[in-house]
Amino acid sequence: MYVTWYTAMSIDGRIAGPGDDLSFLALLEAAGEHEAEFAEFIATIDAIVIGSATQRWLVKEGQALPHRGLPIWLVSHDVALAEAAAAADADTPVTRVEGDIAPILDAIEAAGHERIWICGGGDIAGQALAVDRVDELLLTMAPTVLGSGPTVFDAAALERRLFTLEELRRYGANGVRMRWLRDRSAT
Ligand SMILES: NC(=O)c1ccc[n+]([C@@H]2O[C@H](COP(=O)([O-])OP(=O)(O)OC[C@H]3O[C@@H](n4cnc5c(N)ncnc54)[C@H](OP(=O)(O)O)[C@@H]3O)[C@@H](O)[C@H]2O)c1
Repeated sequence: MYVTWYTAMSIDGRIAGPGDDLSFLALLEAAGEHEAEFAEFIATIDAIVIGSATQRWLVKEGQALPHRGLPIWLVSHDVALAEAAAAADADTPVTRVEGDIAPILDAIEAAGHERIWICGGGDIAGQALAVDRVDELLLTMAPTVLGSGPTVFDAAALERRLFTLEELRRYGANGVRMRWLRDRSAT
């Protein structure tokens, strides 16, 4: 199973500002590339992993689900949140999971999924990186510093992990798109 963490971040490595403020994303949407690129990306994915905080942010913004049609694995202790997500769309299976991330990822793989998108947030991505299950990073860096908020890998302690740069380009006027692949050949 191949796991991609595709997200947008600030120059200081944050995926949201204080109080879950994602207004900085407008700096990238203005670039006009996002929709087509996201459509191309999501066509390669067969399941989505999302944490409670990201799901709650979506609900707050009036989006019941991160994406419709693909199975969603909600990593959460919140039964009501999962029930609400499951009720949002009959064609989008929602499975709530909790506990260690490695067996969660094993269960997703055992369900037959091959290409996974970690939709968010940094807490889930940090846990996945800690157990070395992140294969690809697709990061778009917005031209701003947020100062506080969850980081792209929001984990207290992580081991060193090497990545190989596959793509680097300007994104819109002042953003940067980076694609990194996990390099497990070296320590
Ligand atoms: N820049 C972007 O494109 C982007 C992308 C995604 C998210 N975001 C933003 O990032 C913020 C959320 O990120 P985050 O890192 O704070 O949180 P997150 O990863 O979305 O969710 C963390 C929460 O998920 C639950 N959880 C995590 N691991 C668990 C486990 N192993 N078992 C059971 N439950 C577990 C816990 O909540 P419970 O105990 O309450 O269940 C935990 O507090 C939001 O503001 C979101 O909008 C931004």
